[in-house]
Amino acid sequence: MTIFKGKSIGDPKYAPVKGTVFNQLFYFKKLHDYHAQLAKTHPTMRLLAPNQSELYRIDVRNIEHILKTNFDKYSKGKYNQDIITDLFGEGIFAVDGDKWKQQRKIASYEFSTRVLRDFSCSVFRKNASKLVRVISEFSHEGLVFDMQDLQMRCALDSIFKVGFGTELNSFDESNALIYWRYVDPIWNLKTCDGRTADAPDVLPDGHKVEKGDGVYYLAYAMGRMSSIWGEDVDEFCPERWINNGIFQPESPFKFVAFHAGPRMCLGKDFAYRQMKIVAMCVLNFYNQEMIEYSLSSSFLTTTMANL
Ligand code: HEM
Repeated sequence: MTIFKGKSIGDPKYAPVKGTVFNQLFYFKKLHDYHAQLAKTHPTMRLLAPNQSELYRIDVRNIEHILKTNFDKYSKGKYNQDIITDLFGEGIFAVDGDKWKQQRKIASYEFSTRVLRDFSCSVFRKNASKLVRVISEFSHEGLVFDMQDLQMRCALDSIFKVGFGTELNSFDESNALIYWRYVDPIWNLKTCDGRTADAPDVLPDGHKVEKGDGVYYLAYAMGRMSSIWGEDVDEFCPERWINNGIFQPESPFKFVAFHAGPRMCLGKDFAYRQMKIVAMCVLNFYNQEMIEYSLSSSFLTTTMANL
């Protein structure tokens, strides 16, 4: 415990300590649920690491403070940067400061062009039809299968084709190794979207942050908090997003899956377009039955029946 000395444990100026980052290893398979459970009672909490604290937050004001109002005080930090650079080089995902500004400007323009929109739509349609073919095979055999895994493959094929111009063909089992090589790190990155404090700061809820502390938002937990969405948070009720037949987008600081502020995801509209195309194809051709459900984000299992 000596390495955690001097961390202001018990000091109300700092977020309460709910363990060390090593605790997370015990809960690795259900990390999202573990965080969600802790966040219900502690909207901002700390897990201690040897050289710094890691702050986990679901408080909407704190998130807006870090991702927008005080954008310049927080960066990717060396730890996140090293992981991302290994995967994507010095691309927009990895860099900060002027390098990021320059790439963001160019990428924003590219993402808004009609050529990219048309090309990506044709890729999404093609991969959705591949997905339907695969589901057909399961359906004819009456097999149970993992829908989340299939959708991940479909999305990854599209990202590869649109982003790098290459066919990944991740439905093809002979490519399974290549598929997992990308899915694992991408999936893990998504679990820890965060920033590092470049200077000491005080969050709107009054908690102090030290230089070098990691600050992470918990998108999965936030989607399950009654403090953010109301008492009916666990009910499936898409109508909550619709007013007089018109979709009402929520504040990106509440629905933070695509990040928020100046570094908000540039591919959000592409992702939605792909989801709509895939949903239309799958729902049009198949009846789905969920046979196993767990609160964990890991896997959903479904059976399919031809309509
Ligand atoms: C459901 C699918 C997606 C989700 C949940 C998602 C989520 C995110 C998140 C959380 C970030 C912020 C990362 C960070 O800085 O910590 C991000 C950034 C980004 N996303 Fe997405 N994304 C999705 C799909 C896409 C797609 C399909 C594209 C491209 C076609 C894309 C392009 C980008 C780019 C370029 C950035 C970097 C923005 C910047 O740093 O300025 N995303 N996305």
